[in-house]
Amino acid sequence: MEVVIVPDAEAGGELIAEAMAKLLGRKPGALLGVATGSTPLPVYEALAAKVRSGAVDVGQARIAQLDEYVGLPADHPESYRSVLRREVLEPLGIGMDQFTGPDGTAEDVQGACEAYDKALSDAGGVDLQLLGIGTDGHIGFNEPCSSLASRTRIKTLTEQTRIDNARFFGGDIGQVPHHVITQGIGTILEARHLVLLATGEGKADAVAATVEGPIAAMCPASALQLHPHATVVVDEAAASKL
Ligand code: GLP
Repeated sequence: MEVVIVPDAEAGGELIAEAMAKLLGRKPGALLGVATGSTPLPVYEALAAKVRSGAVDVGQARIAQLDEYVGLPADHPESYRSVLRREVLEPLGIGMDQFTGPDGTAEDVQGACEAYDKALSDAGGVDLQLLGIGTDGHIGFNEPCSSLASRTRIKTLTEQTRIDNARFFGGDIGQVPHHVITQGIGTILEARHLVLLATGEGKADAVAATVEGPIAAMCPASALQLHPHATVVVDEAAASKL
């Protein structure tokens, strides 16, 4: 695992956008796995700036979703499909035909999970998966105690994650869904390059457990230690407990 400490979130965003641009330069149809949350926004902004300046061409790029709420209509503004359309696809000028994600509205949720897991491998696998991290060490929506070999499946959110995400639902935890679909940890580990970005002091404990703690289901992100090509990009505040 490579740990890169950057001065601030903007520098982290630039560094990761540069890695994505290089990947797309050598493999224009690369499958980029993207994450939601506030942390990755500087990455998407830096990548969009490169697209606008002509430094990178995303005409053939493909985008894959990491996780999704169960039960929110696909056009709900906080469904992760909507969030990614707004924050990633539109700024990059990428159409929905270049996007793949799990169906959080399916009646057969387990079937939707299995179908998405298979779709990712049928697509040749994810080339670069961008990850954020929850304050409890979750990646995607793999909460503590998730099997490190898990596949895409339905999960129940912890109270802490619902509290953390209530800000996207007008501060009302009652609006935050209880259930989600997430790529499993085993699924995530199949990406060729994992890039985790963490910024701010609130992530310092989770980052320390990820990088220096034991590989343990209590800190799902610690599974990155098992991956042959994992990069953890942290600002100084998030690195403060390393
Ligand atoms: C959600 C997402 C994760 C994300 C996490 C942290 O739980 N499912 O993929 O990493 O939030 O979000 P933020 O970056 O806003 O702290």
